[in-house]
Parts: sequence; C-alpha cells; structure tokens
Amino acid sequence: MKSTFIVDLERASRTANIGIVLLCLASGVAGYLVSFYFHFLTVTFFLLVLLNAFWRHGQTSHALLANFGFLAQIRYLVESIGPEFRQYLFASDTEERPFNRVERAEVYRKAKGVDSSAAFGSLLDFDRREIKLRHSFYPVDKDQIEPFDVAVGESRNLETTYHIRRPIMISAMSYGALGENAVRALARGARLAGAVMNTGEGGTPKYHLMEGCDLIFQIGTAKFGVRTPEGHLDEDKLAAIAGQDEVKMIEIKLSQGAKPGKGGLLPKEKITPEIAELRGVPMDEDVISPAHHLECVDAESTVAFIGRVQRVGGLPTGIKFCLGRPDEFRALVQEMKRQDIVPDFITVDGAEGGTGAAPKSFMDDVGMPLFEALPLVHKALQESGLRDRLVLFASGKLINPGKQMTALSLGADAVYSARGFLLALGCIQALQCNRNTCPVGITTHQKKLQKGLDIEDKAQRVANYIEALHHDHVELLSAMGRSSSRWLSEENVYSPTRAPASPLSQEPS
Ligand SMILES: Cc1cc2nc3c(=O)[nH]c(=O)nc-3n(C[C@H](O)[C@H](O)[C@H](O)COP(=O)(O)O)c2cc1C
Repeated sequence: MKSTFIVDLERASRTANIGIVLLCLASGVAGYLVSFYFHFLTVTFFLLVLLNAFWRHGQTSHALLANFGFLAQIRYLVESIGPEFRQYLFASDTEERPFNRVERAEVYRKAKGVDSSAAFGSLLDFDRREIKLRHSFYPVDKDQIEPFDVAVGESRNLETTYHIRRPIMISAMSYGALGENAVRALARGARLAGAVMNTGEGGTPKYHLMEGCDLIFQIGTAKFGVRTPEGHLDEDKLAAIAGQDEVKMIEIKLSQGAKPGKGGLLPKEKITPEIAELRGVPMDEDVISPAHHLECVDAESTVAFIGRVQRVGGLPTGIKFCLGRPDEFRALVQEMKRQDIVPDFITVDGAEGGTGAAPKSFMDDVGMPLFEALPLVHKALQESGLRDRLVLFASGKLINPGKQMTALSLGADAVYSARGFLLALGCIQALQCNRNTCPVGITTHQKKLQKGLDIEDKAQRVANYIEALHHDHVELLSAMGRSSSRWLSEENVYSPTRAPASPLSQEPS
C-alpha cells in the first residue's frame, strides 16, 4: 500500500513538471501578444524545462532528481540553506553545537570589552548532571589572590624556564588552517595581553614572529618546518627555530582531540604557494600528516624522542595528546621514570576539541572527553611521583571562565583555547573551516574574505578576551575561597556523577 506522503509527492512533482511547461508556453504567448519582454521569461522557463528533462532522464547519480525532477531540486536548495535558517530563526539560545548562542555571546561581549553579565537567571538546565564549582562560605579578598604564575621547565633548572602569567593560552592552530590576518591578529592580541600562543603544526612560523608574542612551537607528526626529506626530525632546523627569541617552549603533538590516532589534514583548496613552501609540501594534493611520529612507535622510543627534542631545542618541551587508553599512558609514565626523561608539560586535549578539518567519525566517536581524561592523567602522574616535575595544560571547549576553573580544579595548571579565540576574532560558527570559504576571513586564504578581518581591531578583541577571562579567574578563585589556582583540586568541583568529595583540604598558611 502506498503511503499518503508518496502519493502527494508524486502528484506535486507531476504538477510542477507540467507547470513549468505550461508557464513556458504561457509566457511565449504573452511575449507574442502582450510584450516582447515576456520572452525573457519564456527563455528562462524553456531552460528550466530542458534542465528538468536532463535531471529526469539524462543523469543517474541522483535518484531523487530522476524520480521527481524540478521538485527534488527545490528540496536540495532548501536543505542547503537549512543550517542558516535554523541558526538565525529557529534554534533556541542554548541548543546549537559545538557552541550555543549564549556561550558565543559571552565570548563576543568579553572580546568587545562590554558587560557580559546576564539577567533573570541561568539558561542552563540545572537537572542536567553537570559539574559545578564549589564556592566557600568564606571568599578570599581579591587583593589576597596571588598573581598567576606557572613556571615551565623549572624542575629541570632550565635557564629558559618560562613563566606563564595568564591562565589562558591560545591553543595550536596552524598558519594553513588559519589565514594570515587571523594569525597576526591572534599573535598581536596575545602580545598585548601578555599571553602565550601556540603555532600549531604549520611549519616555520612567519606571521606569528612578525607580531612579537611569546610562542610555543608545535612539532606535528609530519614535522613541518623541522623535517628531513624522509620525514624524520631535522635537528639543525629545530635548533634554528628554537633559537628565535619569541619561541619559548616546544610542544610535540602526539595526537589531538578532534582526530586522535589520525594525522593532521590540510585540504588542497587551502594550500597557497607560501604554505607549500613553509611546510615543504606540494600544492595539488591534500596534506595528510602521518598518524604518529616516525620516531615514536612505543613508550621507549616516544620518551627517547621527547628527550632528544629537549636536548636539541634547549627549551621547556612538552607533549600534547588526547587520551585513549589509560594503561598506555601509565606505561608511558613508567618509561619516563625508567629513562629519567620527563616532559616539562603535558597538554591533555579532550575529544570534544576542534579542528580545521577531520573525518567526522573521529570527531564524533574517538577519544576521551576532557573532564574524564584530565583527572586520570593528573592522578597517574601523582601516583608515579612525577606530577611535581611537570605542568599540565588542558583544552577542549574551555571557552568560558567556569569551564576553565573546572579544568584547573581537575588537575590543569593552565588552560588552552582555540575556538574561544576564533569567536573572539568574530567567528560566526559557519562550520566551513575546511573549505577555504570562511565568511569572516579567519580560516581562509582568500584575500577578499580576509579583507574584513582588521588585524588591529581584532587583536584588541583577543586581548580584551584574555583580560576578561583573567579577571573572572580572580573573581571565581575568590568565591571558591582559594588564593591561587595552585590550591584548586577535585574537591573544588561538584558533580552528581563523581564520587562525593572528601572534606576540603586547607591551603598551607
Ligand atoms: C582551526 C583549527 C586548527 C587547529 N589546528 C591544530 C594544530 O595545528 N595542531 C593541534 O595540535 N591542534 C590544532 N587544533 C586543535 C586545538 O589546538 C585544540 O586542541 C582544540 O581545538 C581544543 O580547543 P577548543 O575546544 O578551545 O577549540 C586546531 C583547532 C582548530 C579549531
């Protein structure tokens, strides 16, 4: 038995197909009898009739077009503009992903330097099983809060020990994924606000260096900028980059939350001659980085590689990964102890992290979310006795102060954000980072789209965002009764899904 829907669709399609033929004939008659200008319509409808005939009888790749012709084309059209319609007209303030309008609006307001307070009450569902921060009956006076200072490399007594002075850092995003104006605006904003920025795996930094901010140079699995022709580490190239004044730390990327177990991906649409040169790659094919460093095939070789980069670079050096198997991480930690080689920092990237381009199945289904992975990593390091020899960074949708404080409570010493900073630059979440068509000129190399991204104006927004987050960091610490984020622990968060916290420990006086 046919369903009513199918009968209606067939009838509507037949009507539409006959309708355009009739309209073509009618405008032809009108052009003959009333005015010549009707022939413009005649030509238009005639072309549509021809196209319709082709869709129905001349192609085989679209079943819907073959069966329903013109009507199916209308469906494709409506479907293609559906996301914009839903975003602007129908989606509620709290339902969009990855960031809903309320979350985005907070970043926009902080970046513009306008009041980001809200009225009437939270828009979140309080029956959701969310992690909340525990406040204290006895807030600490704000002038008693210690200045933020996390030293990286101190436990190795490095002369190059780096002091992070802002709780939030700009996470890895390569020049390649981002266009030139975006990189420069982020780098200039970081310099204005005294924050540090990660270069991402885009090879020799160029636009980052122009703005003079402190940098973490990232070595991705393809080792762009520091590779031998065979894809191994070129020590001379690394030493040259690490010798630049602005480069303060080195991050070895083992994996990333949005595509763990998979190398980076830069679609060929986004490869300009300059990017090809900085990375040392051809222009006419997608650049796919290997899934792992050629040097890192097990715990032993991975730890040895960390030691090698520490030695060659002479800078605080860490690793970044998304956690998959805790047993593998524990084995890595044991190997660090055995070789007595400990990274100066570890970045834990949650599976919810963003990317310029990745396979959907990896974005959706691979890797551990940050708030599960971070405490595991933190505790494994504590149990092994290595926790005091390194610092922990966290990333994964940490775009607002509350989530950042949660990460600091679950073990992180400082946090990274990538997409928070894209929003600060004016990202409207068009979800086109992989197509070179970013409408606000951030993740594109099209000059005409980048024109709208004014470096000076957006750098100030980046700086404002960092300052506002720092301000809120102090406010929240005060409310939580802590004088420094050093004294935060899992006891400072509340979650119905976690084991009840033990009584709050005291800060040493
Ligand atoms: C456009 C874009 C490009 C990225 N490029 C890199 C990269 O080169 N290397 C890397 O380790 N992570 C990269 N990431 C991931 C971020 O550094 C970060 O780990 C992740 O997005 C989580 O932070 P977020 O949730 O604040 O965006 C990129 C993310 C985005 C959105």
